[in-house]
Parts: sequence; C-alpha cells; structure tokens
Amino acid sequence: MSGDEALDLAPVVRNLIDLSDAGGDAIAAMINDAINRKAARAGWPKGKPDADAPLAGRVLAMIFEKSSTRTRVSFDIAMRQLGGSAIILDSGTSQLGRGESIADTARVLSRMADAIMVRTDDHAKIEEMGQYAHVPVINGLTDRSHPCQIVADLLTVIEHGKPLPGLEVAWFGDGNNVLHSILEAAGLMKFNVRVATPEGYDPEGEFVEMARAGGAQVTMTRDAKEAASGADVIVTDTWVSMGQDHTHNKLAAMAPYQVNSALMANAKLDAIFLHCLPAHVGEEVTEDVFESAQSVVFDEAENRIHAQKSVLLWSFGLLG
Ligand code: CP
Ligand code: NVA
Repeated sequence: MSGDEALDLAPVVRNLIDLSDAGGDAIAAMINDAINRKAARAGWPKGKPDADAPLAGRVLAMIFEKSSTRTRVSFDIAMRQLGGSAIILDSGTSQLGRGESIADTARVLSRMADAIMVRTDDHAKIEEMGQYAHVPVINGLTDRSHPCQIVADLLTVIEHGKPLPGLEVAWFGDGNNVLHSILEAAGLMKFNVRVATPEGYDPEGEFVEMARAGGAQVTMTRDAKEAASGADVIVTDTWVSMGQDHTHNKLAAMAPYQVNSALMANAKLDAIFLHCLPAHVGEEVTEDVFESAQSVVFDEAENRIHAQKSVLLWSFGLLG
C-alpha cells in the first residue's frame, strides 16, 4: 500500500497502553512485520524511508517526562523509515511542565499530530491521555510498564532462534515496569517466566496473575540459581529505576541477584542475556557477562527501531 492510499483510509485509533491492548495475535504480526521490514532495508541508510513509506505524511508527537535515549531515537527513526516524522516535547519546555492538564494536551495534540507517544512517571497519566486523545496513544514507559521494549525483546529472542511457546525466561533483581510487561507478554505469547527477586521487591501480583491466566508458568523464587537453572533467556534491568531513590538498603537486597558468570553457568549453554539498557555494569550485571558472546543487548537496542515501526503500524490499523 502506498502512503497516500494509507492516508485515505478511515482513521483507526488503537492505543498501546499495555500489551493486552494488542493481544497475542497482533504481537505475533508485529514481530513478523518487523523481521520482514528489517530484512528488506538491510544496508540502507538509517533515515531512508522503506519502499512503501506507509506512514507518509503522518506525524508522531512524543512527550518525555523522564529521560530517554533508545525510546526517543528509535521512535523518531521509526517514523522516518515509515515515511513520516516526529516532534519531541519535554515537560521542561512544554506547557505540561507548567501545569496544563493531560486532558487539554491530549485534545490539542490530537488536532496537530497523528499519534502520541508518552513516557511518564505515573501510569494514570497515560491512561488519561488515552481517554482524551482521538489519535493513537503509545506507552513509551511508565512506572508500571514498558510494552514497546518487550516487543523489541521478543523480536530479539526470535531472531536468536528461540521460538516463544514454552521458552524459559528468567528475570533477576527488581520487580519493576519491564518485568511487568514481560509477565503480561508471557500470558499472551505462552512462554514461562522465573522471577528471582528479593523480599519487598516482587512484581505486582496482578501481572503474575495475568501471565498465569494466559497459560504461562510463573515461578516466584528468592533463589537466583534456581531461577537460572536451564533457562533459555536471562534478563535483568537496573536495580534503581528512574524516579526511585538510590538507597543502600535496596542495593544490598539486590546484590544476590546480580547476573554474573557463575549465575550464567546455570542457564542453558546457548542461553542469551537481555537488558533493556541503560545498564549499570558492576551492579545488576558484571562486565564479563555484559560483554560476552551470550549478551545480545545491542541487537535488542537496535530492535527498538524495528519493533516500534510495527507498533506504530498496528496503532494506525495498518497491521494485525
Ligand atoms: N530501554 C529504554 O527504554 O531506553 P531509554 O530509557 O534510553 O529510552
Ligand atoms: N526500569 C527502568 C527502565 C529504563 C528503560 C526505569 O524505569 O528506569
């Protein structure tokens, strides 16, 4: 389909606030499309549009109330590759930072842009944005979840020859927003999750229940070695997320959950290591693991572009 034909279609508004908004079939379609588009443009300059430029003429407005490198750049490049463009707003230089309401911002941006991506501290804010906007709203990370990251993670796992059904994914450290979206994906895509967290840092039970209700096996343990044993994928994230206090107590509680070579030795020989980045090498992961052949963190980072293209196409009703 050409960009002009795409624009002639009745507008479709699909929000991706969390992965369940899309569902398993749509996530599978996103991953397939990402694989195909990535292959079709191999070796091209990164800003050159894909041959079909399906989002020609469309503009994405991105709101950042927290820092970002990957999410910001990947969505911008994704829009360029789809033939569209992106605008970045941050709370320091937009009226949001001076107290303009989410509801008014949503309605104004809906008149000016074709989709809105939001990174914010409070998940309730993106839900409110979704309620008031009449263009697609995409979650670029909240305190509760990080769905776009997980589409890229699943793409990376599949690219590395690991089909999702029955996959054993082991998480170490903080029961945070990234883990929540992994658990949500597990129920939708039928893979299993072993969660090794210290007491007091478990993920929200709602996400564990969601995974189990979807048919995923979820093992909650305090024993990092048990979680790693026979795992296909080893995942961790920063021990201190954006907006959280860097307390000595938390770091001490996390220490037994560090991903190091002794822990990796318990996983399958061909296990891969994932980290959404930014990493704090020497804290949640040691340098030898981070730099090892099993570490696919830079494939994972690049895949943010390819995955975000699929998310955008889905949100406009052009995929899945
Ligand atoms: N992984 C991720 O979302 O990175 P950024 O914070 O740099 O966007
Ligand atoms: N859990 C981290 C992810 C950063 C991409 C955070 O919320 O800061």
